[in-house]
Amino acid sequence: MKLEIRPKSDSIGAEVVGIDLANGMDDGEFDAILDAFHAHHVLVFPGQSLTQGQQVAFSRRFGELEWHVHREFRGEEFPELHTLTNLDADGRPTGIHPGEGALEWHSDKSYMPRPSMATMLHALEVPSEGGDTYFADLHAAYDALTGEMKARIDPLHAVHSWEASRINAGVTLATEEEKADAPPVTHPLARTHPASGRKAIYVGNHASHVEELPLEEGRALIRELMEFATGPDFTTSHEWRKGDLVMWDNRGLLHRASLYDTVNEVRVLHRTVVRGDVPV
Ligand code: SIN
Repeated sequence: MKLEIRPKSDSIGAEVVGIDLANGMDDGEFDAILDAFHAHHVLVFPGQSLTQGQQVAFSRRFGELEWHVHREFRGEEFPELHTLTNLDADGRPTGIHPGEGALEWHSDKSYMPRPSMATMLHALEVPSEGGDTYFADLHAAYDALTGEMKARIDPLHAVHSWEASRINAGVTLATEEEKADAPPVTHPLARTHPASGRKAIYVGNHASHVEELPLEEGRALIRELMEFATGPDFTTSHEWRKGDLVMWDNRGLLHRASLYDTVNEVRVLHRTVVRGDVPV
């Protein structure tokens, strides 16, 4: 088997074949995968069959892993691994989409001082229809802004919080314990990717307002940027196949899950998340 990177025809995404991640990666393979990750932002490794420990080991090659804010989502054997499933403890479909806020466009853990660098999802079971994951390319969206808009947002900072995220998504409100775990943080509205040096609009469902602007003006600006960046010119989707492992770069992408028949279908994904740097 020889590692091969096959870019998708549209702007983001590449398929990586010729590697069995269960066996780990040698240094050459790791470097090639990291380069492809920086170039294509979303990597799809089809046909993988990984134990929880193997997924954790693969993910750890890219950095320190994070634990979910929701304590009940932390795995028993590997607290860094979160199972996204619509099945209950007896294996019956619950009729509920597991990621309450995941249906909204977001960048993972942008409410933390060091938001997520990469997210890895490994598909154990997938629905026959729906449940795709959508991506928006925030680098391409920044590049397409007018010079006037770039000059406006470059010096500004957005305030992100877990509390705002829950309110914005209209889902169960954050508990006091969760709010204490993840108090509000500010990040540049236009962040620079540490590897490529490219700028990206850094918004998403966890962002509430702009530090330097009156509340409503800042909220309107975030809404405007979100609408622009998630338009058809900058978005793509991944239709899951059993065995896919998909990893994406949260520093220049928004993503969201989509609905499926949670009563009659099954969707089980193992999720690991690598911590990133402080955005600049
Ligand atoms: C996530 O938001 O990390 C999960 C996306 C998905 O379930 O498709």
